[in-house]
Amino acid sequence: MKFKKRILCIGAGYVGGPTMAMIAWKCPDYRVTVVDVNSQRIDAWNSKELPVFEPGLDKIIKKTRGKNLFFSKNIEKGIAENDIIFVSVNTPTKTFGSGAGKAPDLQYWEKTAHQILENSTSSKIVIEKSTLPVKTAAAMEKILTPAKGKAKFEVLSNPEFLAEGTAIKDLENPDRVLIGSHETKSGRKACQELVNIYARWVPRNKIITTNIWSAELSKLVANAFLAQRVSSINSISALCEKTEADISEVSRAVGMDSRIGNKFLQAGIGFGGSCFKKDILHLAYLCNYYGLPEIANYWESVIKINEYQQERFITNIFSSMFNTLTGKKICILGFAFKSNTGDTRESPAIHITRKLVAEHAHVTISDPQALKNAALDLADIHENIKYEEDPYRATAGCHAIAILTDWDLYKKLDFRKIYKSMTKPAFLFDGRNIVDHKKCFEIGFNVYPIGKPAMSHFKIKKKSTISL
Ligand code: UDX
Ligand code: UDX
Repeated sequence: MKFKKRILCIGAGYVGGPTMAMIAWKCPDYRVTVVDVNSQRIDAWNSKELPVFEPGLDKIIKKTRGKNLFFSKNIEKGIAENDIIFVSVNTPTKTFGSGAGKAPDLQYWEKTAHQILENSTSSKIVIEKSTLPVKTAAAMEKILTPAKGKAKFEVLSNPEFLAEGTAIKDLENPDRVLIGSHETKSGRKACQELVNIYARWVPRNKIITTNIWSAELSKLVANAFLAQRVSSINSISALCEKTEADISEVSRAVGMDSRIGNKFLQAGIGFGGSCFKKDILHLAYLCNYYGLPEIANYWESVIKINEYQQERFITNIFSSMFNTLTGKKICILGFAFKSNTGDTRESPAIHITRKLVAEHAHVTISDPQALKNAALDLADIHENIKYEEDPYRATAGCHAIAILTDWDLYKKLDFRKIYKSMTKPAFLFDGRNIVDHKKCFEIGFNVYPIGKPAMSHFKIKKKSTISL
């Protein structure tokens, strides 16, 4: 079959894989190839067990793989043969040298730009899919300028807003598609090419075109705003625990204001994932770079609250369990950074588990999708740690349960059965406020939610209320 267009994506990760699967599915007359330096990842994409767990993804892969969607290890050939190149390689925070812990590490980006240059003999549209600091396109263009022969490159920014766990839904029915281009004739022409791809399934009024810098910055800002909402509600959860307010009631009352809206107001142990922390750090780095330290501090405080929220949770476990965890068995229910994904990048569970192990607790980790990644994250811990997928086996004999991921599965557990199998007194720390606290308390648990009064069978001296 002769294909109308040939599209390549460099980087077969959580973003590149699902996004290209969606394009291939919606555009059966386009040939879509995905390449990656990691050959095991490509093998996994070509196997039955896909490298990322994403509801609905396997169905689309089945319909497209081998027809117009191909996963390949040959990056050079991919670049040479395709006219539209998406770049979705990772841009972690730098761990070394100048800007360590703050600036984005752009080495993969630069390497990829050089690869594109070296293997192109014809003109290409290069699309930034990864979240990048503002002005990366300019750096990219510098690398791509001395192209071979008549080859010309047009760089576009098309940041991806999909959230893991709902990637397929988000891709199929996005709130908006954002495309940034240069405001030149060739920039606008390239932009139109990309608009035409998305217009196959996205209503035209949801495809917005901007200048390239606005597109780059918008992605950072969208993530910073979302993270800020989580930190804002978590900051109030701390105050609720000190008073008799209940965070769920506060969230509901605040969220019903249509100007505020009810999404992203779920208090918990803090945000994780590959984007929020990294993008806020990038944003703050940019602000500092442009001489705006006050603005940088403002955004950095969102990360500080996130760290504080995790510390509060650990301190609460420690003090509720009589200030010692030595030898106590604690079951962690959920290790993924949120439900419906096996991804554990920046998951609060990593830090919390490490702290519990440091207190000599015996930790059993359970998760329906993330146990492989959990074992990699904690590979340096050899003692006092176990992995058990079945939540009933994982909790049996434990002194405490800590719910760290909002998996639906945990809402439906038989807590009576679990309580019976545990060591008494049994503790339940609900880091996501997802189980029925009253019911669990009545079963016999000492229950510690986030941002709500603890329900304990011990006699505790009540703190006197504030006198004004
Ligand atoms: C990545 C970025 O982290 C994020 O900022 C951006 O918004 C989207 O792309 P994700 O897809 O979740 O997100 O990352 P990851 O799953 O790590 O995938 C990146 C892939 O690129 C990896 O499979 C890696 O092997 C590949 N890669 C990396 C290359 O193919 N070439 C390189 O030079 C570097
Ligand atoms: C995010 C953005 O939503 C997405 O648009 C962007 O492209 C990539 O980054 P993702 O990291 O997949 O997506 O997850 P998201 O659903 O945003 O959740 C991030 C974290 O916030 C999770 O750890 C989640 O548990 C936490 N969260 C979210 C809360 O604690 N409370 C909430 O109310 C919402």
